[in-house]
Amino acid sequence: MAIERLVEPTMASNNNEEERMEISLRPTNFAEYIGQEHLKNNLRLAIKAVKKRNDGSTLDHILLYGPPGLGKTTMAGVIAHELGASLRVTSGPAIERAGDLASILTNLKDGDVLFIDEIHRLRRAVEEVLYSAMEDYKLDIVIGKGPAARSVRLDLPRFTVIGATTRTGSLAGPLRDRFGIIHRLEYYKESEIEQIINRTAGILKTKIRPEATTLLAARSRLTPRIANRLFKRVRDFADVNGDGIIDQEIATRSLEMMEIDYLGLDPADRNMLKLMYENYGDRPVGLTTIAALTGDEATTIEDFYEPYLLQLGLIARTPKGRIVTEKGRQHLQNPKKKV
Ligand code: ADE
Repeated sequence: MAIERLVEPTMASNNNEEERMEISLRPTNFAEYIGQEHLKNNLRLAIKAVKKRNDGSTLDHILLYGPPGLGKTTMAGVIAHELGASLRVTSGPAIERAGDLASILTNLKDGDVLFIDEIHRLRRAVEEVLYSAMEDYKLDIVIGKGPAARSVRLDLPRFTVIGATTRTGSLAGPLRDRFGIIHRLEYYKESEIEQIINRTAGILKTKIRPEATTLLAARSRLTPRIANRLFKRVRDFADVNGDGIIDQEIATRSLEMMEIDYLGLDPADRNMLKLMYENYGDRPVGLTTIAALTGDEATTIEDFYEPYLLQLGLIARTPKGRIVTEKGRQHLQNPKKKV
């Protein structure tokens, strides 16, 4: 990332403190998990069925996709908890060699849940080992080199993979096919973000007035991770500049200081919109050109800036590239006024 952004939905720029806070705020079961009702209903049913059968079969492998910060890791924890299973967490880039995956898999126990974040970033050789492991709980490994090399097949415990990705498109077909349950996490409703903020306030023993909750929710990009991050900054502001209670005035002043506008856009978002509009007007512009204009990687634009701007309808995707919509143009001209 070129600039550290408060509204960045990944935890890439985070410090450990933020990660610790996020973990402490995570809901552990379906009852505590706010939002994603459709996904929860489907999962509840699948988990009930596995438990009712009680024949040693395990939950189908699950692929969760969608923009970052919407609770894929949290949901994996909830699923493991509801199953009464242990959760093992890893990520695509962390598994460098097939041997690394082999050691993870052979250390699992029957019924365990293996969460693989950023599963689209698994290397091809690792991915191939994973197919057969997911398919028939066997691990094919080659021992030795050259003429002495031999292949052995090991039995693995019956486990469930939960894969998470921001992009299903970049997942190899055969890997995708191994998942029985494929689900997209949606942006949250503003009312759900309000509930999440109130829950966080309760856990962190901070008083927040309803108007302030509404204000914060409106600027959290419909993303719990961002809501919790903004909450924490506003709480600091309230402790330093007030009596610790978050009211509308404290929230407004603190968000102004962070330069987050009423749609939740930060200076980097507005800069991207502005560069697109100033250079291309309402004509389409390609992703690599946008990246060159802002100085970011194309994948950063695609994964982090774009999804929320698309969701708001400030930009649109066309076969020829991205365009700034009329709504986007209006927002640029008057970022304080509601469109
Ligand atoms: N904290 C972060 N995400 C949450 C969610 N979906 N429900 C409850 N608390 C959360």
